Amino acid sequence: MADITTSAADKKEKEYFLDVPQQTPGFFLKGSHQYDWGLKNRLSRVFNPKDGRTVMLAFDHGYFQGPTTGLERVDQTILPLEPYADCLMLTRGIQRSIIPASTQKAIALRASGGTSMVSPFEEWEGELDGKKIKFGRPGFEPLSNESTALNIEEAIRLNASLLAVQVFIGSAYERQSLKNLTDLVDAGARYGIAVMGVVAVGRAMARNAQYFRLATRIMAELGAHVVKCYYTDEGFDTITSCCPVPIVIAGGKKLPELDALKMSYNAIQQGASGVDMGRNIFQSEDPVAMMKAVRGVVHEGLTPDQAFAMFNDLKGKK
Ligand code: 5RP
Repeated sequence: MADITTSAADKKEKEYFLDVPQQTPGFFLKGSHQYDWGLKNRLSRVFNPKDGRTVMLAFDHGYFQGPTTGLERVDQTILPLEPYADCLMLTRGIQRSIIPASTQKAIALRASGGTSMVSPFEEWEGELDGKKIKFGRPGFEPLSNESTALNIEEAIRLNASLLAVQVFIGSAYERQSLKNLTDLVDAGARYGIAVMGVVAVGRAMARNAQYFRLATRIMAELGAHVVKCYYTDEGFDTITSCCPVPIVIAGGKKLPELDALKMSYNAIQQGASGVDMGRNIFQSEDPVAMMKAVRGVVHEGLTPDQAFAMFNDLKGKK
């Protein structure tokens, strides 16, 4: 699907200039040096200006899957983690009802939604060669049929630094989700609020570097100030290299702690500007210890083994 070739020239081998950092004269954050003051200031709340990195704590999962494991009581499980995050990624409902307005943390506000994990999938039974078989419409995943889910005045009231919008490249609702992104970029531009495009991977999509290069680059070209995608074992550095704005990685499904720390480390080494991690933190056997270990990797240059030793040392201590 990606890299559709149309001529001999298009077939030339790609050059990612992996050893040549993109210049951002006068500002610390990739691709952000020509923005206006307010936008730069908000991005400086999300990303630490000392190292250009962030540990975002993602707990917005309830916007489509309700009380996710570990998020049944956000007041009990997430508030203790708040001191160790640079940025809180959440929904407006949780922000208003649970998060103290006195927080000093940057807010990344979920700005798309409208579907759920039980939205009906269009499929039907039929017969093929005398056998009963299920048919579906490939790409028509109900979850991807999102709209924008808040307006810009609400984002200002909630003092958001970043708006998060899901984008479903390759799905039947691709165009609609890209329109959600560009609508939010236009609205955010009026007030200096940044937008993070989140690569959503549908069931039919491959989680490989080729797909993420395509999806992250499209979002950046259409105006996303930050892009979130998954880590890939192969070619992650090519994804960060050809995306002109910062990339943060999602954690994905819960992994053993050492594996999640290795993934974070490898992503940072290959050009990610941080993590936007949820389940691998709040579903950890010790979420505070895990949060501190992830910070060690992102901000203190710890290796996965050093960070895992830190996790084990802190585990179980109050
Ligand atoms: C919801 C999101 C989540 O914030 C994102 O997936 C991060 O959470 P996790 O680390 O648990 O994957 O974008 O769709």
